[in-house]
Amino acid sequence: PQFDTVIRNGTLATASDVFAADLGVIGGRIAAIGAGLGPGTREIDAAGRLVMPGGVDGHCHLDQPTSDGSQSADDFETGTRSAACGGTTTVIPFACQFKGQSLRDAVTDYHRRADGKAVIDYAFHLIVSDPTDQLLGQDLPALIHDGYTSFKIYMTYDDMKLNDRQVLELLSVARRDGAMAMIHAENADFIGWLTDRLLAAGHTAPRYHADSRPMLVEREATHRAIAMAELADVPILIVHVSGREAIEQIHWAQGRGMRIYAETCPQYMVLTEHDLHGHGMEGAKCICSPPPRDKANQAAVWDALAGGTFHIVSSDHAPFRYQDPKGKMLHGADTPFNWIPNGVPGIETRLPILFSEGVKKGRISLQRFVELSSTNPAKMYGLHPRKGSLAIGADADIVIYDPDRKVTITNAMLHHNVDYTPYEGLEVTGWPETVLSRGEVVVEGGACVAQPGRGAFLRCDTPDLARPKVGAD
Ligand code: URP
Ligand code: ZN
Ligand code: ZN
Ligand code: ZN
Repeated sequence: PQFDTVIRNGTLATASDVFAADLGVIGGRIAAIGAGLGPGTREIDAAGRLVMPGGVDGHCHLDQPTSDGSQSADDFETGTRSAACGGTTTVIPFACQFKGQSLRDAVTDYHRRADGKAVIDYAFHLIVSDPTDQLLGQDLPALIHDGYTSFKIYMTYDDMKLNDRQVLELLSVARRDGAMAMIHAENADFIGWLTDRLLAAGHTAPRYHADSRPMLVEREATHRAIAMAELADVPILIVHVSGREAIEQIHWAQGRGMRIYAETCPQYMVLTEHDLHGHGMEGAKCICSPPPRDKANQAAVWDALAGGTFHIVSSDHAPFRYQDPKGKMLHGADTPFNWIPNGVPGIETRLPILFSEGVKKGRISLQRFVELSSTNPAKMYGLHPRKGSLAIGADADIVIYDPDRKVTITNAMLHHNVDYTPYEGLEVTGWPETVLSRGEVVVEGGACVAQPGRGAFLRCDTPDLARPKVGAD
């Protein structure tokens, strides 16, 4: 056949195999993988390059308003452009319900935000902050049926947190209707108590964010989330796991045969609590929850990435600007740590950091890199094998990666709309070169060449991984 595009001479890497082959695209899908494929209307030479399924970012925040008045710097255009330039071809941001709003209205609102803007494909997770009887009985099941097959539950943050009873109600909906429940596991009352003590002692600087949510706050909530999943008898995914004590809880549950999945993020691989110190407010740039820990915890995160306790690596891109009264400086240059919007940007640096720190430094294999950053997130959220795979018939979402290019990360080179990166000055080896989305070249020579609005909304299937174990009833 005549191909629309042939990618030649590259090294293909999937979650299971690394091999030399050409790859042919017809009609936006992968049509052939083999040696010496026939001609393509467009020919791309990938000699010396890796050819991999494009990244699937299973956790990022785009154009998500917050109740404290802070603003998301990235909308669906700048956020997806930055993602694409970083080798990601599918993003799953959140449609967040605020209290008093119907979940369906939240979804409609987020579709309006995304329409005409995204340059790559996207799905939505839901965030449930107000689990009314109407939501539990009708709205959520209907939305799951319509292709919103995952939702996030917060155990902390005053405007989002749910109590254990509410979490159990939601988990039983996940079980019955087939959805993946994602849980933000930190103990809200522990954090509140610690925060008040720190503030009373005059400790308001960014560094005290870390003291307000030490590891045990996460460990306790992780254990409780697991216990609730056991009680409701349904798989869950623990998001943004930061270190050893939480990993131990997850590993313990997995050892008992429970389906507990876990996500970590680049910030827990390369940042530490020390990055919250800095001059003046500088530390605010690295405030996220859970906070970055220490070197020993980074090592535990890498062990769990290599060993299998973790299933996915996401960015948790939370685009708050630094020098901005709608961002980290919400209450001026002395904003107390508990008012600084939480989260760090990283939608573009996710693959480069995982590749360089992981594959290049010998901590994880290339196959494991693809699995963690693309294949598993696609499976976790019901997008596989359409996404996350180099298989015949899969969408031709492909990143052609230069594994040897040396890059010093600076904010100036990134395409997000945030005025800083927590990774300024970090040296990485390897960077995405060319990115295809449904067969169309969307990034070439480091620049995004895609039209806003070409990205399509994806309805997610029931995630296989969310199914209770066979034999349970
Ligand atoms: O600090 C973080 N992670 N902010 C983003 C929102 C969330 O909890 O994921
Ligand atoms: Zn969270
Ligand atoms: Zn220090
Ligand atoms: Zn998040």
